[in-house]
Amino acid sequence: ALVTTKEMFRKAYEGKYSIGAFNINDMEIIQGVVNACKSRNSAVILQVSTGALKYAGPDYLMNMVDAAIKETGIDIAVHLDHGPDLETVKKVIEAGFTSVMFDGSHYDFEENVRLTKEIVDYAHARGVVVEAELGVLAGVEDDVQSEKHVYTQPDEAVEFVQRTGCDSLAIAIGTSHGAFKFAGTPELKFDILEEIGNRLPGYPIVLHGASAVSQEHVATCNQFGGAIKGAQGVPKEMLRKASEMAVCKVNMDTDIRLAMTAALRKFLAENPSEFDPRKYMGAARKEIQKLVEEKIDDVLGSANSM
Ligand code: G3H
Ligand code: 13P
Ligand code: ZN
Ligand code: NA
Repeated sequence: ALVTTKEMFRKAYEGKYSIGAFNINDMEIIQGVVNACKSRNSAVILQVSTGALKYAGPDYLMNMVDAAIKETGIDIAVHLDHGPDLETVKKVIEAGFTSVMFDGSHYDFEENVRLTKEIVDYAHARGVVVEAELGVLAGVEDDVQSEKHVYTQPDEAVEFVQRTGCDSLAIAIGTSHGAFKFAGTPELKFDILEEIGNRLPGYPIVLHGASAVSQEHVATCNQFGGAIKGAQGVPKEMLRKASEMAVCKVNMDTDIRLAMTAALRKFLAENPSEFDPRKYMGAARKEIQKLVEEKIDDVLGSANSM
């Protein structure tokens, strides 16, 4: 069924696991992800960035998700990823999204509170849940570039949640978006996550920038014409540990992109006379399914969560 994240997060918190939130941009990604979730009997969040809204449009994506629900019967929440403003939030709620993120992390604390509260009031009146963000992830996010991490302060997190009424909170503990997360040894601030968990018992925390960056996919890309250097993600054990703590939503986009690109490059290189999109997109879809099944088994722990 088409659901909000409310019940998903309640169960995930209780059961010490997390729900995967995968970015969708086209039919093959949607099918790869939901086929994996179907095979594991897992709930899932399909999330749509402003870039995806621009590429495919809210109605195309929403209608494909409706078809996926009809075919698989799994529980799916459709979520706006890094929503920039109320206007975008209104547009996706109109299209049928059940969850929205308002990313006010680049505003100062008071402005973030004010804008988030405005989104919460609008969304809650329509039965839609809201994810907010506090703290800044290093790296590039849309047009905004941050040189270094601004870790979430537990005191501020508590005040922010109380004042805004947001349903979940994305925090900064050392992850970043994209394929180049750590120059040296990966490190996350688990002490911050633990303190927020203690101060906000039962409250669902969201981890952005949580791709593991499969070295196998990177190597396959590079073996078949790619040039991806120095890619490093969050180690699986850290994601597993976070999922056992207050983290209930783990965001992954880069891993999908790498799986898709590796499969496409490999297929086209090994089948030079082939030009049927169903063949190479089919190979990509299959690789995405395999990736998501492994995520559910090794990282999220969300099998049989429906
Ligand atoms: O948070 C960023 C996601 O990876 C979405 O990326 O804006 O290029 O679709 P995008
Ligand atoms: P990755 O770049 O690690 O996949 O993170 C995606 C994300 O946080 C989307 O909001
Ligand atoms: Zn993100
Ligand atoms: Na959890």
